[in-house]
Amino acid sequence: MTMVSLCPIRPGEVAAVRRLVQLYIYDLGGAYWDVEPNGSFAPAAWHRRFWTGRGRHLFVIRVRGRLAGFALVREGAHFAGGATREISEFFVLRKYRRRGVGTRAAVALFRRFPGRWELAELSWNIAAQQFWRRVLSRVAVDGFTERRRRHGDLLMVVQHFDTRLPGGRARLAACVVGRRSA
Ligand SMILES: CC(C)(COP(=O)(O)OP(=O)(O)OC[C@H]1O[C@@H](n2cnc3c(N)ncnc32)[C@H](O)[C@@H]1OP(=O)(O)O)[C@@H](O)C(=O)NCCC(=O)NCCS
Repeated sequence: MTMVSLCPIRPGEVAAVRRLVQLYIYDLGGAYWDVEPNGSFAPAAWHRRFWTGRGRHLFVIRVRGRLAGFALVREGAHFAGGATREISEFFVLRKYRRRGVGTRAAVALFRRFPGRWELAELSWNIAAQQFWRRVLSRVAVDGFTERRRRHGDLLMVVQHFDTRLPGGRARLAACVVGRRSA
């Protein structure tokens, strides 16, 4: 049995996560988006938004202590705004995929922040859509809605749902969120 953890990022992890972010963007859109002239993916403004701004919560996912991905939560979702949170970015390294790591990390996030949520996947990212629908079947209290929405020149698949159990209390997440079979 192996430990999966999801912990708030520590200062010493920033450089490593910056590198993972490059793999993430390439994975998400490398077949569609050009690389920047300096060889990195996504313009500087995108990276500024990722690393700065209020209402952000950045987490590092580890499997057996090794870096396995990251998750970025933002208060004030892009489409719903206000009191709705979004998971803006979410990444599991290929080595650890299809082993329940993403599901454990996502469930831990929803437990940590019970309430109203929004998710948005790029229209071409069918794997992520299947992944999130599967997670939502576990965590959405009253089902979820799904619509296609434009975001600039991108078409997104957008879900809205609630994770607050009526009368339920927030379960403050410890870093270790579960174990998976090795
Ligand atoms: C999407 C992602 C986070 C899934 O992480 P993961 O750790 O592999 O997910 P899990 O193992 O918990 O998958 C749970 C279920 O989701 C679905 N799923 C996950 N990846 C899938 C894929 N590539 N194709 C189809 N269904 C998939 C399956 O139903 C899976 O259950 P199963 O393996 O028993 O069939 C990961 O593939 C990833 O980081 N992708 C690149 C970045 C990305 O797209 N992020 C999401 C942005 S919205």
